[in-house]
Amino acid sequence: MVASSLHRLGVALLAATALLLPVASAQTACNGHQEFCSRSYSNVSIVGTHNSYGVRAGSIAANQNYTIETQLDDGIRLLQVQGHMNGDELHLCHTLCLLLDGGTFTSYLSTVKTWLDANPNEVVTILMVNSDGISPSVWAQSYEDSGIKSLVYTPPSTPVAYDAWPTYQELISAGTRVVSFLAQNADTSAVPYLLDEFTNVWETPYGQTDNSFPCNVDRVTGSADNKMYLVNHYLDVNTTIFGQTVPVPATAALEETNALTGTGSLGAQASTCLAEHGFYPTFTLVDYYDIGNGSVFEYAAQLNGVNYVPVEIGNGTTTTSSSSGGSSSSGGSSKGGTSASADSGAAATTSRAGLAAVGALGVLSAVLAL
Ligand SMILES: *[C@@H]1O[C@H](CO)[C@@H](O)[C@H](O)[C@H]1NC(C)=O
Ligand SMILES: *[C@@H]1O[C@H](CO)[C@@H](O)[C@H](O)[C@H]1NC(C)=O
Ligand SMILES: *[C@@H]1O[C@H](CO)[C@@H](O)[C@H](O)[C@H]1NC(C)=O
Ligand SMILES: *[C@@H]1O[C@H](CO)[C@@H](O)[C@H](O)[C@H]1NC(C)=O
Ligand SMILES: *[C@@H]1O[C@H](CO)[C@@H](O)[C@H](O)[C@H]1NC(C)=O
Repeated sequence: MVASSLHRLGVALLAATALLLPVASAQTACNGHQEFCSRSYSNVSIVGTHNSYGVRAGSIAANQNYTIETQLDDGIRLLQVQGHMNGDELHLCHTLCLLLDGGTFTSYLSTVKTWLDANPNEVVTILMVNSDGISPSVWAQSYEDSGIKSLVYTPPSTPVAYDAWPTYQELISAGTRVVSFLAQNADTSAVPYLLDEFTNVWETPYGQTDNSFPCNVDRVTGSADNKMYLVNHYLDVNTTIFGQTVPVPATAALEETNALTGTGSLGAQASTCLAEHGFYPTFTLVDYYDIGNGSVFEYAAQLNGVNYVPVEIGNGTTTTSSSSGGSSSSGGSSKGGTSASADSGAAATTSRAGLAAVGALGVLSAVLAL
């Protein structure tokens, strides 16, 4: 009798502890949420950074304000990159390394590896745009040299159907916390963990200059049925340089584009997508994820049906509105400090200054905003 009561008490205590755990320690959660542990990889919506390495103040070839460490700290879980050979090294560049060179892919992956080692319950996806068709073995060499290869997920067979993806807990327990997609020229018989994007994932149209953001299947190999999908939710604006039309990020519209609700917002596109396809995107790509002060993560939480837990966005640097339109100087140092958001006029001025500088190169092509 006594033993049985004690047993019941023990069970009750255990249950109470289990209830407290998700609150008490994020260590037990999967990508920050206990709810995700039992859900499949495809059934958790994550936010990704379009040209994640494209960080350079005032450059029209840039797509982000903060480094990938800050992106990951803030909650970005898909990193999109574009690779080009610079001499005999694989570099991350936007179309042309002359415009914006984000350094070597090996160095980039080393940074991601360090972050993953420090955050053992996080799963990160890497999406590699390979428009030059660089051999998978070259991409794989960077996985080996950076050490991140020890963390890659290799499915038993490819493609992986929507409902055949492992759960977050399975990925974390197996230590296979890096899911990798190569957009072009994948060869899983040569490099099994560099998965072919378009037989596993379809995408909505990219390079939109109209904020209606459709959700039709734009890029896929074969049928879109039973595949995950990626929503390209970044807005471009056409600019004319020496008579050439060039799409660049519509920075003045970022507050609306990255918002949870309203015309042109993330939420509006997700509603379109749900209505057309019956389920939410697994991946959403954005520019300047920090604009909106966490709205992109609130959006993901809403799609995932979990509580949104706000974090301080960025690295503590605040922008000071500069009237000269050139540099944005780094101000305060505290994450919780007052952050003066640049008004759209200042952003447009900065963008024009950048345009003038880069325009002189005369080498911008229409694929800049890919
Ligand atoms: C996950 O699956 C459930 C059940 O099918 C669905 O209701 C939910 O919208 C899905 N969530 C995401 C983010 O895919
Ligand atoms: C914070 O980010 C800004 C914008 O990318 C950068 O200029 C600054 O150097 C960063 N500061 C620190 C301390 O990392
Ligand atoms: C921007 O340019 C593209 C390509 O020329 C064109 O399809 C698109 O309609 C233009 N957008 C606007 C808003 O003019
Ligand atoms: C941004 O969000 C953080 C976290 O919720 C909050 O502390 C901060 O005041 C917000 N900043 C602005 C400028 O709204
Ligand atoms: C981030 O980028 C936007 C768009 O270019 C700009 O308006 C803003 O000042 C930048 N913020 C930081 C912290 O650099």
